[in-house]
Amino acid sequence: MYSVNTSPLLSAQNLCRYYTVRPHAFAATTTLKALDGANFELRAGSTLAVVGESGCGKSTMARLITMIEPPTSGQLSVHGTDIVNATAVARRELRRHVQIVFQDPYGSLNPRKKVGAILEEPLRINTNMSRQERRDAAHDMLQRVGLRREHYVRFPHMFSGGQRQRIAIARALMLKPSIVVADEPVSALDVSIQAQVLNLLMDLQDEFELAYVFISHGLSVVEHIAAEVMVMYLGRPIEQGAKRLIFDSPRHPYTRALLAATPFVDPQRRAHRIVLKGELPSPLSPPAGCAFHTRCPHATALCEAERPALRLLQGRSVACHHAESI
Ligand SMILES: Nc1ncnc2c1ncn2[C@@H]1O[C@H](COP(=O)(O)OP(=O)(O)OP(=O)(O)O)[C@@H](O)[C@H]1O
Ligand code: SF4
Ligand SMILES: [Mg+2]
Repeated sequence: MYSVNTSPLLSAQNLCRYYTVRPHAFAATTTLKALDGANFELRAGSTLAVVGESGCGKSTMARLITMIEPPTSGQLSVHGTDIVNATAVARRELRRHVQIVFQDPYGSLNPRKKVGAILEEPLRINTNMSRQERRDAAHDMLQRVGLRREHYVRFPHMFSGGQRQRIAIARALMLKPSIVVADEPVSALDVSIQAQVLNLLMDLQDEFELAYVFISHGLSVVEHIAAEVMVMYLGRPIEQGAKRLIFDSPRHPYTRALLAATPFVDPQRRAHRIVLKGELPSPLSPPAGCAFHTRCPHATALCEAERPALRLLQGRSVACHHAESI
């Protein structure tokens, strides 16, 4: 077991994941930098939101944190253990503490298993609990996620999308993890159901002191749940800091564009609005200099020539040459 202390449950330094890909049949192989230098720390009971458009590296980060695949370079510590250099046994033990909830509540639950078996499976594999203990734990968890005892004997197809996501959340919590990676957990749900599932996640966070890495395309979903926000563009964090700073005084033009796509009524936020032009470039050949320059209304010759480093500005990190003046 791990002692309770104030050190981060999760910490990453310059975390990278590269893939070698062949863009088309007769092309030479090339390196796709799916994640290229993420830094963060996450403490018990807190939420880091990772936000950005499709292909910016969010799920890649999820796979690294859940130890589904190793980083290409950089450091990643879980409960203070450096997972890159840890033994296979230590990594297996740590995996219990990091669970994941996926976007698709239809594809992520085995349709041939009843809910009870789905919830008990992690206990069967990872613990010595008796049948009765597993059954009690599953019943208990059903209630905690807002489902009922009789749901134990039902199959996934008998539930709505929101209920299925509750089952997926229950399954993720069966081993009492300290960290849950939620990879767009409400994106596939009706808007009317999204708030219910977000509220459930927040209640469970309080109850179990869970740390969340909450992945989302857009900012609106994370406004209530996040403590810290990391905005990503083509594999790199471009603005990162406390939620209030990111929402109230975004310094990066891309963060502002994401906020512009969010239906806010606050006139102060509207004043920051910019609208994204152009297509998202291919991650296989990201633009030189600032990767955002092809879509940025403030781009200058410097932006095309030099990549801006992530630097501290007004309490958050931002990667933009002109963040002070725009
Ligand atoms: N196993 C892999 N081999 C090659 N390329 C990969 C692999 N996994 C991901 N990629 C590429 O890495 C980039 C980041 O992918 P990732 O799935 O992390 O993005 P994402 O932000 O989760 O996108 P989405 O919002 O669509 O889920 C993409 O260009 C993707 O095509
Ligand atoms: S560095 Fe230049 S192109 Fe990049 S976001 Fe800032 S102003 Fe725009
Ligand atoms: Mg993804």
